[in-house]
Amino acid sequence: LAGLLGLAATLMSGCSSSERFLFLGDMSSQSNKEVFWMSIPAIALSIIIFFGVSFALFYTVQRFREDKHDAPPAQFHGNNRLETLLVAVPVLIVLLLSVLTVRTLARINPTPRDAVRVDVLGKQFWWNFAYPDAAAAAGGNVSNGNELIIPVGRQIALTMTGGDVIHGFWAPNLGGQRFATPGSQKTWQVDTERPGVYQGNCSVLCGASHANMRFKVVALPQDRYTTFVKAAQAYRAPTPAGGSAEARGYTLFMQGKPGVAGQADSAVLACASCHRVQGTPANGAAGPDLSFFGTRHTLGAGMWEGEQAREMLIPWIKNPMAVKPGALMPPYDGSTYVEKGKTLKASRLSDAEIGDIAAYLRSLRLPEEADYWRDVP
Ligand code: CUA
Repeated sequence: LAGLLGLAATLMSGCSSSERFLFLGDMSSQSNKEVFWMSIPAIALSIIIFFGVSFALFYTVQRFREDKHDAPPAQFHGNNRLETLLVAVPVLIVLLLSVLTVRTLARINPTPRDAVRVDVLGKQFWWNFAYPDAAAAAGGNVSNGNELIIPVGRQIALTMTGGDVIHGFWAPNLGGQRFATPGSQKTWQVDTERPGVYQGNCSVLCGASHANMRFKVVALPQDRYTTFVKAAQAYRAPTPAGGSAEARGYTLFMQGKPGVAGQADSAVLACASCHRVQGTPANGAAGPDLSFFGTRHTLGAGMWEGEQAREMLIPWIKNPMAVKPGALMPPYDGSTYVEKGKTLKASRLSDAEIGDIAAYLRSLRLPEEADYWRDVP
C-alpha cells in the first residue's frame, strides 16, 4: 500500500497540474484531487485482494490435487480462528474505506462561504447559468445560456435545478457530475486552477437531444473574470437605430408580427415571449437567456461552435426542430410540426426577416474587453 502511494505520488509530481492523470480526471481541480487521493487506497486494496484471492485459489487447487494423495485429506469441521479472521478483515477494509469516503466528502462539502455562486437550470435541451452575486450588485438578473463563465482558483458553488425532467451537469475536468432535478435545489462545487475552455455535457438520458445538450465552461483569470462580471452587470442591450437590419430585427424580436386576415400562418409570436435580453422589455423564461448572444461562441447548446455556429443561426431560427431533434422552439418557415401529439402549422417569416433577427442577435455583444472568448487557451 505504501509502495503504491509512493508510486502515485511520483506519477503525480511528474505531471504538471494542467494534465489529466490517467482516467482519474484533471488535477487542476481541487475536488478531482480529493477524489484521486481517495481512489488510490481503494484501488490498492482491490489489487492486493485480487492477487491474494487468486494466489490462494491456485495454491489450493495445486496443493490438494486428488492425484497427489493416496488417502483422503484430514476431515475436520470449523476453525474459529480462521472464521474470525475472515469476518474481521473485510469489516476492517470496509471501515477504512468508509472513513476515507466520509473524509473526502467532508473536504468537498459543504461549499465554502466565499465560493462564487452560480444557479444552474437544465431544460430540454439547453442550460441556463445565472450569476446571483453579480445580479445582486446590478439590481437585476445576470445570466446567459450554455456558456458558463467562472474564475480560476475559486470554488464555484453550483445550485442545480431542472426545468422539466432530470438532467445531469457534467464537466469532467472540473469535478464530478450532479443531477439537475425539477423541484430540488442542491448546491455543490467545481473548480479549476487552469484558465481555459472546458467541455460539458448532460449526463442523464433526458430525451431526443440528450446528446445535444452540451455546454462550455470558460475559466478566466481573476482579473478578466472581474471585467466580465462588471460588463455583464452593466449590460443594457442598446435599441438599434431606425432603418437598419438590427432595428427591424429588434421590432420582430420584441413584438412579433400581427396576423393578416385570411393568412393562417401570418401571425408571428414575439421571440421576447420566450427569451430574455437584459436591458430590453424581453423577459421570457421559457427559452435560454439571449443577453449578449453576440459574444457567444456556440449555438444550440454547444451543437455548433465558431464559424459553424454563425452559419447555422439562420437555419436554426427557421426551423430549430429540423436541425436539433426534440427542440421545443417552433419553426418560423411555415412548415408543419408536432407539439404534444398535435400537428400544428408554423408561422412564416421571410428570409429577409429571419436575417434581420439574426443581425439583431449578433449585435448583442459585451464590450471587447469583456469578451470571455478572447485569447482563452
Ligand atoms: Cu439533459 Cu440529458
